[in-house]
Amino acid sequence: MSTPVLHLDDPVKRQKVLELVRGLDLTADTQKKIRDVFESEMELGLAKNPPVASSLQMENTFLPELCDGSEEGDYLSLDLGGTNFRVIWLRIKSGAVVSEAVQYYQVPEDVRLGPGVKLFDFLAECIHNFMDGRQLKGQNLPLGFTFSFPMTQQGLDVGILVSWTKSFNCSGVVGEDAVKMLNDAIHRRGDTDVDVIAVLNDTTGTLVQGAFVDRKCAIGLILGTGSNACYIERADRIEKWEGEHKDVKEVVIDVEWGAFGDNGVLDFIKTEYDKEVDRNSLLVGSFTFEKHFGGKYLGEIVRCVLVRLTKEGLLFQSNASEELLQHGAFTTRFVSLIEEDNVNGVDVNTTGALNELKLAFNKEDIEIVKYICWLVSDRAAILVSICTASLLERMDRPETTVAIDGSLFKHHPRLKSFMEKYIAAMAPANKFQLMLAEDGSGKGAGLIAAIASRLKKQQAH
Ligand code: BGC
Repeated sequence: MSTPVLHLDDPVKRQKVLELVRGLDLTADTQKKIRDVFESEMELGLAKNPPVASSLQMENTFLPELCDGSEEGDYLSLDLGGTNFRVIWLRIKSGAVVSEAVQYYQVPEDVRLGPGVKLFDFLAECIHNFMDGRQLKGQNLPLGFTFSFPMTQQGLDVGILVSWTKSFNCSGVVGEDAVKMLNDAIHRRGDTDVDVIAVLNDTTGTLVQGAFVDRKCAIGLILGTGSNACYIERADRIEKWEGEHKDVKEVVIDVEWGAFGDNGVLDFIKTEYDKEVDRNSLLVGSFTFEKHFGGKYLGEIVRCVLVRLTKEGLLFQSNASEELLQHGAFTTRFVSLIEEDNVNGVDVNTTGALNELKLAFNKEDIEIVKYICWLVSDRAAILVSICTASLLERMDRPETTVAIDGSLFKHHPRLKSFMEKYIAAMAPANKFQLMLAEDGSGKGAGLIAAIASRLKKQQAH
């Protein structure tokens, strides 16, 4: 598989286009520099008194073990992270999910951006609605809460929000415990009976779900609206971990790589397009790494490039349609569709997307748009692969399965193969496979609630 190539007959025009996107093409030197910075940020993030603050949170999830196959019972799981909130009822037998019932609730924009209390009241109402519809009232089911935002954890059932990301920005939640806020909302209603026993990040859910399917799984990765990963770290390497944990050998660490470089250490890769995407995003300057490739942003990066090339007279005969000028108009779905054309050597999806954007285009325009989608996808794969390869080398296991979930990974036709190529080159001594772990955040939350119940019972004895 080759690196992105732009086929244009006119060498002058070709040169001009390449000049304007040069920064998106990461050289081997730049890749090496990113990796060095990532590894040093990881170390700083685990240190007790780091000389400078790391942009990587390296959060202890307090999950000391994965499923051991003895988990049983009925559990609820909640999944909040995107615009759809899910409530799931899982039945687990011998550590396996044997049945599940799911309901989706759209979280309206005013709830995603309004007061936090309203958000948690909304979640409690959904839980009530779900249980009411399934005659689950009065059963006091243990609940695992997937809260896919950066949290400070002080135990499996305490998750203090560090900052909002993606499309949420509710007031009064940063610095508060999401579990307590949810419990308070449930108690305010007085008509719903659940026991929130674990809060987790979607990466952790994905790892647990992945490890259930494949024992070699030691990384949970999300490539969806946002991006992040967790991995299994040796407890003795977590210098900052205070308190009693003598018997714990390993623990799952949530890297929170979406924020990688927010402290400036990665400014050398930021192109004018990345800066523009950040400027136009909900939380400017925050979680800038995931803005390079998260599903919420990938299409927008392409759009910014296309607008610039149009202004420079290199696309669409200098005419950008009103549609193309709108933020968010070039969706990540378009990138995946156009990448499909690149794979199949056709133009059908590209012309469809350009028509939807009401653009007048010719053959050269199609070539350029296809190239930009390839280039931006390739960079996404390189960035995720650098971080993944670093984790693989750090864990240094004979063989590791990386469980991956998220809409971008699922729908992009060749991110997986790009990543396989890059990771293999970047961590040549570490055998690995990438595995789609569908619905890690849903099933994983139920499984973690089951693990938490088991651990609680063990502690009581
Ligand atoms: C959040 C992470 C989450 C990731 C994927 C990021 O914006 O900070 O906690 O794992 O999105 O959903």
